Amino acid sequence: MGVAELFPAERQEAKPVDRITIRRPDDWHIHLRDGAMLKAVLPYTAAQFARGIIMPNLVPPVTTVAAAQAYRERILAALPAGLDFTPLMTCYLRDDTDPDEIERGFKDKVWVAAKLYPAGATTNSHAGVTDILGIAPVLERMERIGMPLLIHGEATDPEIDIFDREAAFMEGSLIPLLGRHQGLKVTVEHATTAEILDVVREHRSRCAATITPHHLVINRTHIFQGGLRPHLYCLPVAKRERHRLALRAAATSGEACFYLGTDTAPHVRGAKEASCGCAGVFCGPSALQTYVQVFDEEGALDKFEAFASLNGARFHGLEPNAGTVTLERRESRIAEAVAVDDTAVVVFRGEETLPWSVA
Ligand code: NCD
Ligand code: ZN
Repeated sequence: MGVAELFPAERQEAKPVDRITIRRPDDWHIHLRDGAMLKAVLPYTAAQFARGIIMPNLVPPVTTVAAAQAYRERILAALPAGLDFTPLMTCYLRDDTDPDEIERGFKDKVWVAAKLYPAGATTNSHAGVTDILGIAPVLERMERIGMPLLIHGEATDPEIDIFDREAAFMEGSLIPLLGRHQGLKVTVEHATTAEILDVVREHRSRCAATITPHHLVINRTHIFQGGLRPHLYCLPVAKRERHRLALRAAATSGEACFYLGTDTAPHVRGAKEASCGCAGVFCGPSALQTYVQVFDEEGALDKFEAFASLNGARFHGLEPNAGTVTLERRESRIAEAVAVDDTAVVVFRGEETLPWSVA
């Protein structure tokens, strides 16, 4: 008789983990907007994350050191008492961005990275870059000073099928760019395809990808489930199921080149539920609950801290946060919508009962 038979209790299924405590996480991709919207959405992000990369796609965009400083001040002024959150600012690249301005903001610790929006790729990107070759001097400077380039990786030719735009950018722009600038640190923002994850892996000594909560739980069919669901529409648009599964495998793999970036992107209800609705999913309030559920479903809770709290900080050369956050298997609901002025922003998964909660 073996030991297992002597101690039958030992053979029982391992008890599921019901609580997990990790270092406080950071969100490496956030849209906070400005004014009343900023005030309305910031508390949700600050309640979950210690630091966050603030995207610069305001109108007008954040293109100067002075504008980034002023925006940071407005964010800190909008932060409710009792919440501590550090906004990490970024510069919006344009065709005429001055390498000296880029370097000045980085050396003065005003911004930590620059964002490349191909002109026309997404919300408020019309002032973005029309010709990546044309900004070579900026990229060379960033490479020299170790400043990361954050990329919205979609081709902008309107003839290209919307579901192929990440793949087209990868082939036509990303791979050549990584080849031209071999020391440049690059983050592929909100990765949505299996193939781009492999490109990131191949360049992982200096390349990473953020992965959103919504791309881990929806595929492109969900956007049309029973009718058009505008609140699930974002850019890059969700892809086929095989891509969602590849994203889940990458996020939960523990690989250092993949980390958390929600791309929480609030738009008021009327701008989403319209004949031509805006791209963006407001996932900030349900982000950690969604991510931890995915790691639980994939049997990878032991990898959650690396994805949420360690990998991004390491990529940006920052220490992990000192505090901790606990997540527990306890059902909870979040508000369906967050009020802004006399309207509201619909919350991703706000109508669901979520299996995990922030303790
Ligand atoms: C973002 C926004 O609304 O600012 N929208 C989106 O669909 N993700 C911009 C972006 O990150 O593409
Ligand atoms: Zn974004």
